[in-house]
Amino acid sequence: MILDNCKIVDLPRVTDPRGNLTFVEAGRHIPFEIKRVYYLYDVPGGAERGGHAHKALHQLIIAMSGSFDIHLDDGFSKKTVHMNRSYYGLYVCPMIWREIDNFSSGAVCMVLASAYYDEDDYYRNYASFREDIGKEPAHENSVS
Ligand code: TYD
Repeated sequence: MILDNCKIVDLPRVTDPRGNLTFVEAGRHIPFEIKRVYYLYDVPGGAERGGHAHKALHQLIIAMSGSFDIHLDDGFSKKTVHMNRSYYGLYVCPMIWREIDNFSSGAVCMVLASAYYDEDDYYRNYASFREDIGKEPAHENSVS
């Protein structure tokens, strides 16, 4: 099941009385090279983001501040992950429909992505995504 590849990555924590530090190394903590970083912030209460799937993009989603819920769907099964720690990342492999909601006030959602922005990589329509499930080759990516 593709959804099983989507896992929480427990990132390294360097705790320090001066403040804690966390880092992410491509290829070590996540199974892809990072080509792009983007973040959602100033999200108004009740707003939803996402509502799409990617054909080939790999992502790691981190709650840099505050909290939110990520709903994942591989076309067959679904799961929801509550993100509220900046040392946890959620790895999302290709061909996963995702929706993000329940943002707390001041939440910042940072995403590390394996490729530059490309609108052609998106499924913006759930029915088209669902139709293409099964046509895709099996994904062998997993969190190391
Ligand atoms: P989108 O991925 O649809 O946002 P979300 O799924 O988080 O709700 O992107 C919203 C808009 O921002 C869309 O018009 C494309 C643009 N955008 C970029 O130009 N570059 C990027 O890296 C991203 C993620 C989005």
